[in-house]
Formats: sequence, structure tokens, C-alpha cells
Amino acid sequence: MKGIILAGGSGTRLGPSTDGVSKQMLDIYDKPMIYYPLSTLMSAGIRDILVITTEEDQKVFMRQLQDGSKFGIHISYKIQPSPDGLAQAFLLGEDFIGDEPCAMILGDNIFYGTGFYRMLDEASKNAYQGKATIFGNQVKDPERFGIMELDSENNVIGVEEKPEFPKSNYAIVGLYFYPAGVSKLAKRVEPSARGELEITTLNDFYLQQGLLKAELLESGFAWFDAGTHDSKLDAANMIRTIQNRTGQVVCCPEVVAYDKGWLTQGELEERAKVYSKNNYGKYLKSILKEK
Ligand code: DAU
Repeated sequence: MKGIILAGGSGTRLGPSTDGVSKQMLDIYDKPMIYYPLSTLMSAGIRDILVITTEEDQKVFMRQLQDGSKFGIHISYKIQPSPDGLAQAFLLGEDFIGDEPCAMILGDNIFYGTGFYRMLDEASKNAYQGKATIFGNQVKDPERFGIMELDSENNVIGVEEKPEFPKSNYAIVGLYFYPAGVSKLAKRVEPSARGELEITTLNDFYLQQGLLKAELLESGFAWFDAGTHDSKLDAANMIRTIQNRTGQVVCCPEVVAYDKGWLTQGELEERAKVYSKNNYGKYLKSILKEK
């Protein structure tokens, strides 16, 4: 299974903070925003990840994440020349994906809550069985999102991008799992009225074939698209509260890698040394002692 982090876009909603740096490289409390989606893909068992960025921002991502070996994974990079839509990720990533299933996550999406690992597992299994999976989260302003319509047994029966009159309040969050062949299908997506290759159109193709599954995030599950100053601060406050209460660092890629056996004890020790003067390093060290 391959993974894509879509971290392009213009970031205009976060200006002036994004005049000099990409949105996904801004901090969410104690680590860059992109660490959160990266850890999510890694938690799903994905070790081969493509980071899609704008041309001007690519260098900064490369400097931060390098080739991924510091997390026991492989990271490659691709430029999206202009923000032409989420489904374009599968065109840009066609060679990278090859004939494997692929998950895609938006670089500003943060997930935290119970049942998530089970859902990732389920989505991954679906992808290997030829089915796509989207994730739904109840929101109070569904007209701002892609929306899924569900039947009484929570099967998806419709998907719509930012409908004026939403048929449900389940937003489709920025995490998608697709079976092999997604790039081929993405080529059939036509630009929408706003001129974008919509991920919702791609999801509708799977729905029409009876191949679209949905996982619903439980009430109390925290999903943030940290694309505004308020949601970014809300996410940071939540992460800070959880970390201070539990003593665990949320979405720490080094620890996800260590738990999966992708980093050795020695390699984690090296990582802990790099940050020995701060709490992140102390946490990595505490993990070594614990295990
Ligand atoms: O947040 C979830 C929503 O994301 C879904 O519910 C919608 O179905 C989906 O279309 C998308 O909605 P938005 O229109 O709000 O997405 P936005 O344009 O804000 O882009 C989401 C992120 O992806 C953002 O961080 C920028 C990045 N992006 C966006 C586009 C269009 C790219 O990297 N490349 C792009 O071409």
C-alpha cells in the first residue's frame, strides 16, 4: 500500500503566516503540521509515502522530512504546479502508485480518537479487496464540505461536494483509501464548476460501481482541518491538553516507527539525542526506557 500527503495549495487563509513558509510546515503545538498526517499514514502501516507540494515549498519539506529514513520509511516528493484539485494527486502520483492500493491524506488534517486504528485497518483491507473507503465526521456546517448520504444501515448512498442543501451532516474528511487502479479512474474526472478535479467526483465513480465504503468517526472523535487560524489554534490546544495529561506525544512519527519495528532501539536513541534539550527528545528517551 502506498500513501500520498497532499500538502500544496495556496494557504491564503493563514496569511500572513504563510507568506514565507508553507501552511503544512507551521507548528501544531510541538511539531510541524505535516507530522500529524504523516503519523496517520504510518499508523496505517504505510512505509512508502509521496509528499506533493508547490514548487517553491518543496525544499523546506525535503529539509524537514528528508528521505524518510529517520522515521524508518521512504519519502519521495512531487510538485503540483497549481492547485487544480485533490483528485490530481493520483495523476501526479501515477508512477509512484504503480499497481498498488493507495491512501491519500490532506497535509492539514489531524485525527485523534478511539477506534481510529481499527478503522485504518478496515480501510486498508477494503483497498486490497478492490474497494474505496471514505471517513465521515458529523459537523454543524456541512455545506462547507464534501458530504456523504447514508442509508439506515450506514451504507453510503450519495456523495456531494459542498451542497447548498446537504442531505446529511456527515462531512467527508481529508483521508481516503483506494484500491489499485485509482490513477486510471482519476483520469476520467472532469473539472468542476470551480475548475477543480474534485475528489468527490472520484468517490462517486466508486459509489456508482458499488465499491465505496464509509467509516464513521465516533462522536467525541477529534478531527481538525487546521487550515484557519482558529482551527489551527483549537488543534494545538487539544494536542497540548492531551499530551500534558497523558504524558504521550500525539502523532510522533519516530514512536509510530519504533512500535512497528521500523526503527531499531539504536536508531531511536539517535533521534532522542538530536532533541535531547527539549521535551520531544525526553519523550523519545522515555519510550526507550519503557520498552
Ligand atoms: O477538509 C475536507 C474537505 O477537503 C472535503 O470535505 C472536501 O470534499 C474536499 O473537496 C476538500 O474541501 P476544500 O475545498 O475545503 O479543500 P481545500 O481547497 O481547502 O484543500 C484542502 C487541502 O488540500 C488544503 O490544505 C490545500 C490542499 N490542496 C488543495 C487543492 C485544491 C492541494 O494541495 N492541492 C490542491 O489542488
